[in-house]
Amino acid sequence: MQVGLRVVLGVTGSIAAYKAVEVARLLKKRGADVQAMLTDGASHFVTALTFEAVTGRPARRTVWGMSGEDLRKIEHVEDAYAADRILIAPASANFITRYTHGFADDALTATLLSTSAPVWVAPAMESNMWRHPATQANVATLQGRGVRFLGPTTGDLASGRTGDGRMWAPERIVDAVLGDGAAQRTDLEGLTILVTAGPTWEPIDPVRVLTNRSTGAMGLAIADRAAERGARVRVVLGPTHLAPSVPSVALTRVESAVDMLAAAEAAADDIDVLIATAAVSDYRPADPRPRKLKRSDPAAATLALAENPDILATLSARLRPRSASVTIVGFAAETDDVVRHAQAKLSRKGCDVVIANRVGPDRGFGAGETEVLAITASAPPVPFGPADKAGVADFVLDQVLELRRQRSGS
Ligand code: CTP
Repeated sequence: MQVGLRVVLGVTGSIAAYKAVEVARLLKKRGADVQAMLTDGASHFVTALTFEAVTGRPARRTVWGMSGEDLRKIEHVEDAYAADRILIAPASANFITRYTHGFADDALTATLLSTSAPVWVAPAMESNMWRHPATQANVATLQGRGVRFLGPTTGDLASGRTGDGRMWAPERIVDAVLGDGAAQRTDLEGLTILVTAGPTWEPIDPVRVLTNRSTGAMGLAIADRAAERGARVRVVLGPTHLAPSVPSVALTRVESAVDMLAAAEAAADDIDVLIATAAVSDYRPADPRPRKLKRSDPAAATLALAENPDILATLSARLRPRSASVTIVGFAAETDDVVRHAQAKLSRKGCDVVIANRVGPDRGFGAGETEVLAITASAPPVPFGPADKAGVADFVLDQVLELRRQRSGS
C-alpha cells in the first residue's frame, strides 16, 4: 500500500468497538494516516481519547467542527475529500440503517454523504438483528451502491449466544482494506460474461465510414473489472485504440454492426451475463461503394441508409428462451429525458437493467468521471457517481450480482 494513505475509520455503537482500537493501531502500523470518527453509540463503549492517542489526530464526533487557520474549513467536508478509503468497523445495525437512508447527523454519516472514496463496512451485531429483513434490505441497497461488506462471521456474540453477527478479526479487516480490496474480490467466479464495446464503423466506401464518438472505455473497464473479480470474460470490440488490460479477457475485434452481431452471437451460447455497452450505429450506408466515392459523383451528396440489426435486442430474444438465468444489461446514453428513454429501452430490448447516463458536449463519451442511474422494472432508479470508469464498472457488476441474488431468492 501507499504510505500516507488517508483512511477514515468510523466506529459505531457495538460492543466490538473495543476491537476498533486494534484496527486503528494496525492501520497505523501499516503506514496509513488514520482519521477516527465516533458515533454517539460508539462513545458508550470507547472514548475519543483512546483513538486520538493511537492515531495522533483529533477524533471527530459531530458535524459542527470547523478547523483551519481562519476556522473556515468544515471538518466533515474536508475529511470527506481527503479520504482515500473509508472503513466502518464495527458497523451497528442502527448505523447501517442511517447510512442507507442518507442521514448526516454526525461526523461519520455526514462524511459518508460527502465522499467519493470507496467504503468498506464490517458489521457487528446480534444474529437476529443481522438477519432481519430490514437490515438485509439495507445491506443489499448499500452493496448496490458499491459499498463492500466485510463479514460478519459466525462465532460467540456479546449476548452469550453463538451465531452470525460477529465482526471479522481486526487483521482480516485491515488486510481487506489495505490490500487492493477491490482487486481481491472474487465474487464473479463461475460466471461467463460477454461484453460488447466501442463504436462501429459502417463503410461508405473503402476509405470512409459512419461512426460516433464512443471510445469503448466503459465496456473495457467492465470487462477488466469482471475478469479481476473472477469471471470468464469475452469482449466484442468495435474500432478503438483501446484494449483490455487484463490478459485473461478474450477479445474479438470487429468493425461494423453486422460483424459485431455475428461475433457476439458466436460468443453468446453459454453465457450467464450479457453487458451491451457498444455504441452501435443505428444505420449503415445501404450501398457501400467498392471504390472511393469522388466529390463529383452525384451519390456523394446523399447517403441512402439501411437499418442495422439491434445486437442487444437480437441476443436477448435468442438467449431468454434458452436460459432463465441469463442476466442482460443494456446501456443508454441520452441527451434528455434520461429515465423515460432508458425505461423504454429496458422493455424494448428485454434487459434486466439499463445503465443510463446523460451525454452532451460537456459530458459522457471519453469524460473522466461518470454519473449513472441503474433502471430496473421493479425498483426506483439507483444513482451512482460521479466516479471513474472502474468505479462505475464495479457498480454495474454489483447490480448484476444483486439481480441474480434476487432472482435466485437467496
Ligand atoms: N444496441 C445494440 N445494437 C444496436 C443499437 C443499440 O446492441 N444496433 C445496444 C447498446 O449497446 C446499448 C443499448 O442497445 O446497450 C441502447 O443503445 P442506444 O444506441 O441508446 O439505443 P437505440 O436503440 O439506438 O436507441 P435510440 O437511438 O433511439 O436512442
